[in-house]
Amino acid sequence: MTLRPILIHPDPRLKKPCDPVTGKPGDMRSVAEDMLATMYDAPGIGLAAPQIGVMTRLLVMDCVKDPEVAPRPMVLINPEITWASEALNTYEEGCLSIPDQYAEVRRPAEVKVRWTDLDGAPQEEHFKGLWATCVQHEIDHLDGKLFIDYLTPLKRQLITRKMVKLKRDRARL
Ligand code: NI
Repeated sequence: MTLRPILIHPDPRLKKPCDPVTGKPGDMRSVAEDMLATMYDAPGIGLAAPQIGVMTRLLVMDCVKDPEVAPRPMVLINPEITWASEALNTYEEGCLSIPDQYAEVRRPAEVKVRWTDLDGAPQEEHFKGLWATCVQHEIDHLDGKLFIDYLTPLKRQLITRKMVKLKRDRARL
């Protein structure tokens, strides 16, 4: 397993829609394992392939926060939202590609998602709570969309400027 560098916004790869996985799903196993390790290390609860510069429709997540509960690492290939509740939910979201910036985003409270697993088997699940927010946030990444795209242009510019500065400071080290 290898920890992969996480791309920081602004980066053109974070704005680009990703291609579906068309080869054998099992071929994605090593990149998925790298992504899970990178996500846990960050630490974060979700990571999409474009965040490590892999432009395919693949995401990983684990929204188990209770240390008493067993972790649930999930790998979703070609995920698709098949149903979304009318009821909305507001969560304060963050993103590993936009470190230390948080903002409230309103999304459907519950969603059904269909995907392919690493064994090539179709899966479908009804997500609620943090899982529902997380899976929608990660699927957005596969469409080149970031949570700051839901904010006002002013707020988005403010955050983007901070990220440009962060990247400049990091490049200097
Ligand atoms: Ni994100």
